[in-house]
Amino acid sequence: MKILGIETSCDDTCVAIYDESKGIIANEICKQDKIHNLYGGIVPELASRNHMKNIIPLIKKTFKISKTLYHEISGIAYTAGPGLIGSLLIGATLSKSLGFSWNVPTKKINHMEGHLLTPMLENKKILFPFTALLVSGKHTQIINAISLGNYKIIGNSLDDAAGEVFDKISNILGLGYPGGKKISKLAKKNNSKNIKFPRPMTKNNKDLNFSFSGLKTFVINEISKININNYQIKANIAYAFENAIVDTLIIKIKRALKLTKHKNLIISGGVSANHKLRSKMSKIFKKKNINIFYPSKNLCTDNGAMIAYAGMLHFKNSLTSNFDLEINVYPKWLISDIKY
Ligand code: KG4
Ligand code: ZN
Repeated sequence: MKILGIETSCDDTCVAIYDESKGIIANEICKQDKIHNLYGGIVPELASRNHMKNIIPLIKKTFKISKTLYHEISGIAYTAGPGLIGSLLIGATLSKSLGFSWNVPTKKINHMEGHLLTPMLENKKILFPFTALLVSGKHTQIINAISLGNYKIIGNSLDDAAGEVFDKISNILGLGYPGGKKISKLAKKNNSKNIKFPRPMTKNNKDLNFSFSGLKTFVINEISKININNYQIKANIAYAFENAIVDTLIIKIKRALKLTKHKNLIISGGVSANHKLRSKMSKIFKKKNINIFYPSKNLCTDNGAMIAYAGMLHFKNSLTSNFDLEINVYPKWLISDIKY
């Protein structure tokens, strides 16, 4: 079985083919960073216009690279939400059109489920149930993953997501978009550990939710007091900020694992590429005999392989195949509301 995966929930146009026996046979991406960097964040209208421009050439390239013929595809999986409505519509409309012309079924995939399942794509030893931390540009969520398609959100961001705060602080420090990797690189140049930022919403022992907007304001206030051209002070702030985010995520995950009692932990989404997060998490949870699984760095951020893989699991799981031509997308679709 070969599944074509199409991901256009945000700014990157992503197409992949997942082969049931060989795994990922192509995973192509057309990034829009340079376009949105000019504005300090994603401009939705520009994102959808560029998806429109990029998607057909990218699909052709994906087939060429994987040496796959169109008639070898058994199904098409596409991101139907959550995400930007204009961007989602490009992927959904094209997927439905290809499904109709090739006479193959299509499957709507939840973007966050794509992130959640990514480590399973690479490591077949990971089995349900497990606890997952999904940290991306739009979400910070802790999930109790019971079985395929059965997920409970046990912790959620009340305002800015972790990745979003990385991006905003990066802009204010003059580093550009997307900010996570840039802040991380700058933080490595710190020469003082004297700056301390709060670990928000960690006082109440039972709370699993996140609120990073107060931390963002705190850091912005601190930046307003410094000379923005002083590279060293900026590096010290980046270091303190990265630690505050990472420590908060760790405190909440420890609590979540006490509740779920799971021994397997998945960390996924764009921010899971963060080196400090990975090293601190691994050190702490190794002592507690918790197995942590991360995606490879190239699969942390948005990609088509995660959508193709989630599609393959759901195609195999459901007896009915969808050939209808109705195009629906769900900008606020929660992972806990998945129904297949
Ligand atoms: O999962 P993703 O590609 O898109 C969404 O679904 O939102 O995540 C993108 C986010 C951005 O906010 C980016 O700054 C962040 O992931 N990110 C990182 C790192 N690499 C990407 N954050 C911290 N450290 C990184 N190394
Ligand atoms: Zn994502």
